[in-house]
Amino acid sequence: MLDLSGGFLYTASFMQVRKIHLKSFGCQMNKLDSSLVVSALTEQGYSLTEKAAEADVIVINTCSVREHAEERVFSHLGHIKHLKKSRPSLLVAVIGCMAQRLGDQLLAHEVVDVVAGPAQLHEVPALIDRAMADHNKHLAVTGNIRQPATSEAVLEDSHKLDDFEIVHDSDANHIKSQAFIRVMRGCNNFCTYCIVPYVRGPEVSRPPQAIIEQAKKLAAQGIRQITLLGQTVNSYSYRSGNKTYTLADLLEKVSAIDGVHWVRFITSHPGRFDASILHVMADNPKVCPYLHIPAQSGSDRILKAMNRGYTARQYIDLMETAREIVPDIAIAGDFIVGFPGETEDDFQATEDLIRRVRYKNAFIFKYSPRPGTHSEKRLEDTIPAEVKQQRNVKLLDVISEIAEQDNKRFLGRTLQVLVEGPSKKPHLNRAENADHPQLIGRSAHDYIVVFNGPESLTGRFVNVTITKTAPLTLFADLT
Ligand code: SAH
Ligand code: SF4
Ligand code: F3S
Repeated sequence: MLDLSGGFLYTASFMQVRKIHLKSFGCQMNKLDSSLVVSALTEQGYSLTEKAAEADVIVINTCSVREHAEERVFSHLGHIKHLKKSRPSLLVAVIGCMAQRLGDQLLAHEVVDVVAGPAQLHEVPALIDRAMADHNKHLAVTGNIRQPATSEAVLEDSHKLDDFEIVHDSDANHIKSQAFIRVMRGCNNFCTYCIVPYVRGPEVSRPPQAIIEQAKKLAAQGIRQITLLGQTVNSYSYRSGNKTYTLADLLEKVSAIDGVHWVRFITSHPGRFDASILHVMADNPKVCPYLHIPAQSGSDRILKAMNRGYTARQYIDLMETAREIVPDIAIAGDFIVGFPGETEDDFQATEDLIRRVRYKNAFIFKYSPRPGTHSEKRLEDTIPAEVKQQRNVKLLDVISEIAEQDNKRFLGRTLQVLVEGPSKKPHLNRAENADHPQLIGRSAHDYIVVFNGPESLTGRFVNVTITKTAPLTLFADLT
């Protein structure tokens, strides 16, 4: 009897709850933003649904980094058009980098009701409420995105969203064991191809106390791995009294928290990369020996045209120093192929750099001119699409060949991995059964490790012995 009435009450209140469906594009920073927006909305009584068709509100968090990323959002809006025909009350909010870049233009789209930029995400619940009440469209973006970071308004706004507690990770698999903490926003580098400084605004570092407090709360909730996030995370700098806190300080403080087992940070910029970060990594077993540090090109001419602020030699020297200080460090990178004027020689220089550095893995992107950036305004997109494609494939082959050779060093080694959960796409060469499905774990070096084990290991650290290696994956048995 009691059970029945409890069930009834639950259903009744459940029916009043408005449902949101969230679709997230873009980088890790965007995923974190999505989680925080979901937290802000659940605080207002919303519940999350995986099914767009049953949502009252659809939120799309967008990316502007390449044209393709924006095209995907427009095609997604096209699908929503059909949904909205059958349910005119459905409300659509487009948020994030593309919202900041296109503002009114996006708001004019027939299905869009709310547009909010990355600095206005804390306003999303109120904007949605307003749109529901008055059936009007609402826009909140930054007027002058490059307003100096010292201005009170910029500082205040940029910290608001981060104060929400992450109650839901947009990557639901990871909720049990790992979390991301933003340590800084924005970017001041102005690489000539890049839209990020124009959509995310100037660099603003969060106070270290706020970061440490957040890390402590997460650890108390059972989070074991924390990744510190920033567009150029090694530029983190916060002056308090007469001390300037750096990324190395944050790594030390976060890893000292009880319950935190692993700390990572992404993404690093090779300019002004301080060796203190490497020393903390070498001395502190909780700081994972993994460095994502994009080179973008191996040609000095192209690096200059990109305004990266270093030469290929300086980059290679830095990687050699990294390997001297942290001998087993895993290095990951990003490269852009087909930057305006990239010759065969320039491309060869990039291949040479990759062979010198021997990446664990690297992402290759085809140059995409972004409206308003220096390279889009001043340089012609001269490299044909087929050449960009060939260069892309070539670099992926080289990276894979290197990883295939280097990963063999793990054969027979026992590694500790943090178990993320059952594999979504089981590997064919591994048998599985209900007791021992294929699980995915990550090593401290950020290798994906596949092994059989009970699902109850999710969120835990286990030791596995590597039995087989592939360029992107290690296969193992539970030890
Ligand atoms: N803040 C990070 C990465 C930002 S964007 C950093 O500086 O390392 C992620 C990656 O997208 C970049 O590293 C770059 O390789 C790529 N990228 C950025 N703008 C691009 C463009 N216009 N065309 C192609 N790739 C681009
Ligand atoms: Fe873009 Fe360069 Fe800033 Fe990275 S460092 S976000 S590539 S401008
Ligand atoms: Fe894209 Fe914005 Fe991230 S442009 S890469 S979502 S900072």
